Amino acid sequence: MFDKATYVGRRAKLRELMKDGIIILFGNNESPCNYPSNGYYPFRQDSSFLYYFGLNRDGLVGVIDLDNGTETLVGDDIDIEDIVWYGSVDSVKDMAERVGVANTAPMKSLKSICNEAMRQKRRIHFLPPYRHDTKIQIFDLLGIHPVQQKEAASIELIRAVVKMRSTKEQQEIEELERAAVIGYKMHTTAMRLTKPGLTEKFVAGQVDSIALSYGAMTSFATIFSQHGEIMHGNPSMAKLESGRLVLCDCGAETINNYCSDNTRTFPVNGKFTDRQLEIYSIVEACHDHALDVAKPGVKYMDVHFSICRLMTERLKELGLMKGDVDEAVAAGAHAMFLPHGLGHMMGMDVHDMEGLDQINVGFDEETRPRLDQFGTNCLRMGRRLEEGFVVTDEPGIYFIPALIDDWKASGHCAEFLNFDKIETYKDFGGIRIEDDILITKDGCRFLGKDRIPYHPKDIEAYMAENK
Ligand code: GLY
Ligand code: MN
Repeated sequence: MFDKATYVGRRAKLRELMKDGIIILFGNNESPCNYPSNGYYPFRQDSSFLYYFGLNRDGLVGVIDLDNGTETLVGDDIDIEDIVWYGSVDSVKDMAERVGVANTAPMKSLKSICNEAMRQKRRIHFLPPYRHDTKIQIFDLLGIHPVQQKEAASIELIRAVVKMRSTKEQQEIEELERAAVIGYKMHTTAMRLTKPGLTEKFVAGQVDSIALSYGAMTSFATIFSQHGEIMHGNPSMAKLESGRLVLCDCGAETINNYCSDNTRTFPVNGKFTDRQLEIYSIVEACHDHALDVAKPGVKYMDVHFSICRLMTERLKELGLMKGDVDEAVAAGAHAMFLPHGLGHMMGMDVHDMEGLDQINVGFDEETRPRLDQFGTNCLRMGRRLEEGFVVTDEPGIYFIPALIDDWKASGHCAEFLNFDKIETYKDFGGIRIEDDILITKDGCRFLGKDRIPYHPKDIEAYMAENK
């Protein structure tokens, strides 16, 4: 965790941004597996709770009274039986002291805090819950049914949290750099180990162990699959086959809960085929182009559409697309190959603050509503970039057999797509290249110390030299 002043300062800023009422920030609880004491699923604190209260323990709730400025850490001290099994932990009072919170209260008092606020018709601000136990807690405390909680969540609080968490502090950037260094080791391990005959799960398991061995965890479920065309393809027990590409999308989350998120796509046997290189070079050009144009003041949506046009031009040269480039992109024809957005915010969450809804995180008055067209409706980030934002740059080209069949059957965007040629790529899979970038004063830069091998020649050399 950071120092006490960080959390005191962040809460003070939050109070300034909000008008009145009380804020209730729910920390997360343990998620047992199969029976209550099987702590198989790692505990992960809620990121907004961590941001303002910094405490990485289950069973805590933070209350901020905006009218009288008091702050209370709500939670129960553990009992002697817990100490026997899990050891001693700090008391709630000690924890509160560590993050500069003056008051503490037992969990049972939260009900009376809420009842009193409701009796006085004060506004009670909470963030949209995503865990079932938190939904039950809110139902018990405020009487709001789980299906109505997303709507009842405080848009004022969401906007204030997004405003603060979007711009990374220097100490957060340093933490993101640490995650990137572990991410580098994960990816290069994947390249080193990959060879025909091993299973996807074996390599993915080794990759995950790198994160764990650095006291970190993975920032999301590792994607390691020869079916790169499946956006979030889980590693399977399939054997890696010579001649195929494998897509590795993984990242680390540091002990202080800051993430990395990179993707590389490389040949199982260490050597790209000409056909693979043709597609790879387009994704590579799109990735580089984004870096050239991403800077403060530029809408990320414009960067996205700029790379879509470049991709369309290059796919036309290959005979996979046809017609006018601008019209093709306006019609959404490129989404046959790129059905997602160029990137997302990254920070304490790999898709930073996605729990607060991407429309509140990646879009603002200027860029809302997001277009509802297939592909564009998946954009996670559209608004103008600002210094201190951290975003991913992750273009991809995918050949999704079911989508090819679907669009061909319906004739969707037929004037821009050469279906006969596209059909011949149904066995191709998919390529994505992803890096994390910090928006600087007048451009952007990579996070991390070393660049994960990225140019085909560098990947081939790395794989050959490190077997
Ligand atoms: N790296 C996984 C994702 O961005 O969805
Ligand atoms: Mn990503």
